[in-house]
Amino acid sequence: MKRVTKAVIPAAGLGTRFLPATKSQPKEMLPIVDTPAIHYIVEEAVKSGIEDIMIITNSNKHSMENYFDINYELEMRLKDSGKTALADEIHQIASLANVVYTRQKEPKGLGHAILCAKSFVGDEPFAVLLGDDIVVPSNKPALLQLIDAYNDTGNSILGVQKVAHSEVDKYGIVSPSKEIIATNKVFKIVDVVEKPPIDEAPSDYAVLGRYILGPEIFDILSHTQPGHGGEIQLTDAVRKLMKQKAIYACNFEGERYDIGDKFGYLKATIDFSLKRSDFGPKVRDYIRKLAAEDLK
Ligand code: G1P
Repeated sequence: MKRVTKAVIPAAGLGTRFLPATKSQPKEMLPIVDTPAIHYIVEEAVKSGIEDIMIITNSNKHSMENYFDINYELEMRLKDSGKTALADEIHQIASLANVVYTRQKEPKGLGHAILCAKSFVGDEPFAVLLGDDIVVPSNKPALLQLIDAYNDTGNSILGVQKVAHSEVDKYGIVSPSKEIIATNKVFKIVDVVEKPPIDEAPSDYAVLGRYILGPEIFDILSHTQPGHGGEIQLTDAVRKLMKQKAIYACNFEGERYDIGDKFGYLKATIDFSLKRSDFGPKVRDYIRKLAAEDLK
């Protein structure tokens, strides 16, 4: 069985949920405290054993390419002013992973974005990580949990977690095969539906931005017609793949933040800042002060 060493990160979305900030900058570059969201995604891939990454971009995403490149002028200026540690830190970002880019020329949906990575992936299983979902692992990175599940089952894996029933219409929702759901973190699924109406959702297990897919998906994607929202949906292609091969879900562990949502982004910013040793205590004191004032 081939190892999973490649990952595709679709980052060509228009970021409409985060306007006006995304009018002139990619949502993937919005910082959580001081580090762009895409950095966490690339780091998760690398910590999961991924060696090569393709980011799918569009014409508005130059700053992301610059972020993973070397900025000699900035490094020199930092070094000249004695900030060597900071210069080294920003230098390291360029060697975090082997990242390549390709453009999705039209916003035709997630499935179409993945199809743009066909020649990069070739005939291998590969990972997909969506930038809106940042997962803080409790133990293993979320993607590594999926890779383990892939190595155990030899089949495509969708990363899922339970969401509130009222939220199921925002996600791809899986239909678990009944026998093994109660006991296993990894379970076979019999269907997946993109953003079903709340009363038609087959479960509360939502696909949350992590996938391991076989290369057969590309041929299916090239024949997939626009679905939900008039876009070519990855979920629809996965559904077709399920007719040829078994597909499993991995109910991964870790705290997941939907940073494409303004409130989800705020929560991530607060939680990440509380964990910082440099100013976490100050943030905690500030929040306590606000809460005390609120109770008066
Ligand atoms: C995409 C997928 C959806 C998945 C979600 C996870 O939707 O199409 O199946 O559940 O990401 O965040 P989007 O949020 O891009 O509309």
